[in-house]
Amino acid sequence: MITNTELQQKGNQFPNKVVDFKKDADILYFTTQNEVILQLTVLRDSVIRFRFGTGGVFEPDFSYAIDEDGIRGYNHLELKEDDTYYFVHTAKLKIRIEKNSLQTSIFDTDGNLINEDELGFHFEESFEYGGNIVKMSKKAQHAESYYGLGDKPMHSNLRGKRVHNWATDQYAFAKDQDPIYKSVPFYIGLTQKRAYGIFFDNTFKTFFDFCQERMGVTSFWAQGGEMNYYFIYGPEMADVVGSYTNLTGVPELPPLWALGYHQCKWSYFPESNVKAIANKFRELKIPCDGIYLDIDYMDGWRCFTWNKDYFPDPKRMVKELADDGFKTVVIIDPGIKIDKDYWVYQEGIENDYFCKRADGPYMKGKVWPGECNFPDYTNPEVRDWWAGLFKELIQEVGVKGVWNDMNEPAVMEVPGKTFPADVRHNYDGHPCSHNKAHNVYGTQMARATYEGVKKFAYPKRPFVITRSAYSGAQRYTSSWTGDNIASWEHLWVANIQVQRMCISGMSFTGTDIGGFAEQPTGELYARWIQLGVFHPFCRTHSSGHHGDQEPWTFDEGVTDIARKFISLRYRLLPYLYTMFYEYIKKGTPLLKPLVYFDQEDAQTHYRTDEFIFGHHILVCPILEPNAKGRRMYVPRGEWYNYWTKTPVKGGKEQWVDADIDEIPMFVKEGTILPKYPIQQYVGELEIEQVELEVYYGLGKNASKLYEDAQDGYDYKKDRYSYRTFKMVGREKDWIIQQHKRGDFITTYDTFRIHLIGLPFEITTIELDNEVISMEDVQFDQKACALIIKKDFTELHLSGI
Ligand code: GLC
Repeated sequence: MITNTELQQKGNQFPNKVVDFKKDADILYFTTQNEVILQLTVLRDSVIRFRFGTGGVFEPDFSYAIDEDGIRGYNHLELKEDDTYYFVHTAKLKIRIEKNSLQTSIFDTDGNLINEDELGFHFEESFEYGGNIVKMSKKAQHAESYYGLGDKPMHSNLRGKRVHNWATDQYAFAKDQDPIYKSVPFYIGLTQKRAYGIFFDNTFKTFFDFCQERMGVTSFWAQGGEMNYYFIYGPEMADVVGSYTNLTGVPELPPLWALGYHQCKWSYFPESNVKAIANKFRELKIPCDGIYLDIDYMDGWRCFTWNKDYFPDPKRMVKELADDGFKTVVIIDPGIKIDKDYWVYQEGIENDYFCKRADGPYMKGKVWPGECNFPDYTNPEVRDWWAGLFKELIQEVGVKGVWNDMNEPAVMEVPGKTFPADVRHNYDGHPCSHNKAHNVYGTQMARATYEGVKKFAYPKRPFVITRSAYSGAQRYTSSWTGDNIASWEHLWVANIQVQRMCISGMSFTGTDIGGFAEQPTGELYARWIQLGVFHPFCRTHSSGHHGDQEPWTFDEGVTDIARKFISLRYRLLPYLYTMFYEYIKKGTPLLKPLVYFDQEDAQTHYRTDEFIFGHHILVCPILEPNAKGRRMYVPRGEWYNYWTKTPVKGGKEQWVDADIDEIPMFVKEGTILPKYPIQQYVGELEIEQVELEVYYGLGKNASKLYEDAQDGYDYKKDRYSYRTFKMVGREKDWIIQQHKRGDFITTYDTFRIHLIGLPFEITTIELDNEVISMEDVQFDQKACALIIKKDFTELHLSGI
């Protein structure tokens, strides 16, 4: 155990006795004799901000992560003190602050300890970096587990690990490699079945140690800035993730097509190749919405230009693709080629938009086009300029989405693979070095891109995807996990990364299906696409160095599997879209790791492979070659095997068959799964009927269905249709009630209700309180299906 004295000898300073206390509405200030100030802000009853100033001062209060539209307000705030402590009570928490040290303990209202400082806040003045290294240490509780932190490619439970956040271009990253592309300094702790979160909103290089250095201690620190963290209470993990996501923001709805399948490669060119790929999808009847142009579409890798030999008439090509349902997405990197004859470079120089070294020269670095300069996206004026650059691509050429890459920022052939520390940034009027701006550079680029695409795509919705991200990036962009490898191990990594991103506020994420580096076998590709269709963002991408990677590259068997699973994704689009709506409304992650689904069940705390897709579907990928199935944990409750429709009891590990054309997949009892017909792309068909696959369950259950115009902003003016289905299942009857909100009129008139697992034979059907005949609902005994008008309020089936 390290003592304070030992640490003090190493140059650490600790707050001492509180000599002043001040309250300013919901903000409390505790000042110590040695001029440490704790500023405690009650944002919500369960969200408390802790911020420490040293030398009696704070930095200007500014954050790229915090969303101004987040919920603020509490029901209760009470202050007390005795000789030893201050007490701050809200409707959800009791916070106790020691007067002699500012050490803090946080309890729920029943007095259960949730989180407690070990040494608490301390700091070390840093000659090397300037400013302080700010540190916080907490006691780890017995059997406490830790989750979150963005894209870390390692076991989902971080106990026993030390990680750090420094956005890094890590080609072909390995399992357990740290750091990689993203910086999300947010973790969830789970102790005694109660969950809380800590968001350390500090953009410098941050470190998190979960009992790796010292048993029983969890700590986090940063190489600059302030100790500035938000404590978020659950007790449900859903509350923690929801509040964190609310704090750092949610996206708008993506256009529905963006939830379709995307095909990418480095690179599809010339035009004839792009067309051939697109045509093949239609010919083989494999649904696809997005087609990507990687860097080779440009003229000498100059952003916002076209290689006219490969793409003589981009506007025509993009239109022809669009006529066939394909949305063209193009890559745009941050590096602007140093070329006096290149207009983007000229504008950047003329207006002083590029990042500079400390002593004045431009930050120069090599990327794909050779020597480049780099826009300072932390300058609002530069972001406006950058946004404006998209006018031609989006408005004129008709490109539908933009892919931002290399924005860690990546620089080739230099130590550290990025900018040196002395590079200056505007940081929205708080000038700083790259030490502070590095981790947000990618997010600010994606933000500027989003503003541009949004402006010029209007009245349609924008689509942006980024590789690097900091907390809050989800407000502007989707993301992918970067340059993974075509290996079985990476399939395991992919599964974990997307789950982790989902509980880190960034649900709209996917991986390069099949792997970016190297070449998958047909079997690996098949297993990957089976998983990939359950990821919020679904795209095949590859480096193209080792051959092709399209669904038909392998053999017919694999092509059929790809078709089957991509088609399944298209059938489930209304379910996925409903999940997305809940994400933007409540911060609910699209995928839920098992521990999120059932934190009370200790069996889930170290599970990695199984996850819940939305609220009702359990999925578990096959992660090994030659498998005919696998052992997996089916969480507590009653489930149906999706493929066989047989009921399965959860709460135990079990063997599940899954030959090469299946993935273990279960639906929770009491679910209504909405399905669209298969379309080759979103909008191909006018939906004439929606199927509701009903999985009978005893007792009360509910499901939802959200729909709108699938693009545009009318949904913000109540033009959406949000249906809630409430069900009551009993032994001899089953009732479903529908409640609808919103003014959107869907194109279809009827539902086809397909009943699964009904334990009785239907003898009477009542619709909106009137008995009707079997013919009236075209009852199909064999399929156990019936057709009813979409706006029914109650359907009651009873039988013997
Ligand atoms: C980076 C990206 C990759 C892209 C390549 C070429 O490696 O991560 O997705 O294909 O650059 O642009």
